Amino acid sequence: GLPTKTSGTHGALDVVLEGLRRLEYRGYDSAGVAVVSPAGVETRKKAGKLANLVTALEMDPLPAALTGIGHTRWATHGGPTDGNAHPHLADGDRLALIHNGIIENFAELRKELLAKGVVFRSETDTEVAAALLGDIYRGLHDAGTAGGDAAEGADLLTQAMRHACQRLEGAFTLLAVHADLPGVVVAARRNSPLVLGLGEGENFLGSDVSGFIDFTRRAVELGQDQIVTITPETHVITDFRGTPVQGREFTVDWDAAAAEKGGYPSFMEKEINDQPSAVADTLLGRADAAGRLTLDELRINPEELAQVSKIIVLACGTSAYAGQVAKYAIEHWCRIPVEVELSHEFRYRDPIVDAGTLVVSISQSGETMDTLMAVRYAKEQGAKTLSICNTNGSTIPRESDAVLYTHAGPEIAVASTKAFLAQITATYLLGLYLAQLRGNLFSGQIKDILADLGKIPAKIQDVLDRADHIKELARSMKDAESVLFLGRHVGYPVAMEGALKLKEIAYIHAEGFAAGELKHGPIALIDDGQPVFVVVPSPRGRHSLHSKVVSNIQEVRARGAKTLVIAEAGDEAVCDYAEFVFYVPETPTLLMPLLATVPLQIFACELATAKGYDVDQPRNLAKSVTVE
Ligand code: G6P
Repeated sequence: GLPTKTSGTHGALDVVLEGLRRLEYRGYDSAGVAVVSPAGVETRKKAGKLANLVTALEMDPLPAALTGIGHTRWATHGGPTDGNAHPHLADGDRLALIHNGIIENFAELRKELLAKGVVFRSETDTEVAAALLGDIYRGLHDAGTAGGDAAEGADLLTQAMRHACQRLEGAFTLLAVHADLPGVVVAARRNSPLVLGLGEGENFLGSDVSGFIDFTRRAVELGQDQIVTITPETHVITDFRGTPVQGREFTVDWDAAAAEKGGYPSFMEKEINDQPSAVADTLLGRADAAGRLTLDELRINPEELAQVSKIIVLACGTSAYAGQVAKYAIEHWCRIPVEVELSHEFRYRDPIVDAGTLVVSISQSGETMDTLMAVRYAKEQGAKTLSICNTNGSTIPRESDAVLYTHAGPEIAVASTKAFLAQITATYLLGLYLAQLRGNLFSGQIKDILADLGKIPAKIQDVLDRADHIKELARSMKDAESVLFLGRHVGYPVAMEGALKLKEIAYIHAEGFAAGELKHGPIALIDDGQPVFVVVPSPRGRHSLHSKVVSNIQEVRARGAKTLVIAEAGDEAVCDYAEFVFYVPETPTLLMPLLATVPLQIFACELATAKGYDVDQPRNLAKSVTVE
């Protein structure tokens, strides 16, 4: 994360630290800041979470300044040490630079700069970018423009940035300040995220809007390969060739309070509890009173959409499980084949994509590099691309033909919860819309499904109100070494998501299996006392898999498993075989993931908390992974 600001009103350091606090979820293995004051550029950097940096700053304060930059890191090149933290200095310590992304040709550039006598103090690719920029700036400066006014100086740093970007390969967002130019920040982006915030007599830059949400809700999207130079009063955007471009301005539709814990001990717990409104807000305004879906926002011709012959869903992590849930519903409703694939696998396997393919990407952040690259590739192959995304102004929706926003509000905890439910909801709206366009479902059927969806928020609330039951179980299992999760049909991705939550935040070995696959291998893992969660489908309905899953419970139980069951209210058949049962309200099978996932989220959150872990910032992870 990289908030920055130039300001005539707020002190730079406070603004930058506040921004870092809000962006820390993007990476938190080290942090650093730099301020520009009349005395020059000064930095402080510290390994570990932001709190370490704050303590270091208390012991060794920085001078008051109106311009500053800051960074929280998720290490790629070079371990998380004080020295490898950003900012990195160059040009006789007069220039400071922060960076997100990876500079792929850094080794070659490093060699070139070493030959010129540059001394490196870290192992990072970032320091190479800093040295390159410093070297170019020095060259331009000494070539005769020295002694010019501030505007010319800003121009020099911008020019130097332009030249540097032409030499850099890979993905990057770069932000630079220079002691010659106390009121100027120059930033560049290629593929990695960057947003501009417009204040009164102060301007801001951040990896996303939460970096400056405390100070302004006016934001400007920046495109690929663009450079922006800000001063307290101005912002100038150009492309890498120097041609001026206009950014699209938008207003952030949530306020700072939405990104606060609101009385909960962690963001994750708050976000789990936000889920009734995440689903309700995602449904809001998407159908008329007669139950017709009105997804006019899609920006894709309905006739073309109705013609698609295949859907490929691309996503990573939790979002990919939302895609797997969606497959069951969309194929059932629309009779269109749906493939679901991890973005990073899709991109590199020569997939079959053509103009009849609709590629639906699912990304909470809209910035996941793997997914962005996969979407670009699909577009090049002629596919139509539709993005399901939670973040306005982010890159993936920007580069897609169409976008359907989830309205979950900002999700801060690294492990995704409310975005997952909102993503399932959005894919269902998309499925119903396609069914409506193609005439696969009667309007009465669509209306009924929408009505069932409309009842989901209150049912999630019911699950949340009974959270103590599952929390107690979680605390009792805090020493578990391995937990398995089983499900069939839509319960299968729910099982995998339950396992992922536990891996991510409780660091417990966990696997989700298709219950039917058990006998083909995984059952060998079952031993005395092995905890196994089983997501049981509703016993109602003609095609219910209920009895098959109940048999699976018996199979693992017979081999010593401790069976923990998520079942539908009123399902008494499971009681005889379960050590523990959590009931979720009745709902049609396809909507069940919107309820059954919730107790599993609560379980992981409570168990990790009982172990004393920071559930919002689990080790090794980052919320928005903007490297491939
Ligand atoms: C990271 C996060 C996961 C998330 C995944 C996809 O790995 O740690 O929680 O599910 O990225 O993120 P996206 O923003 O594309 O949904």
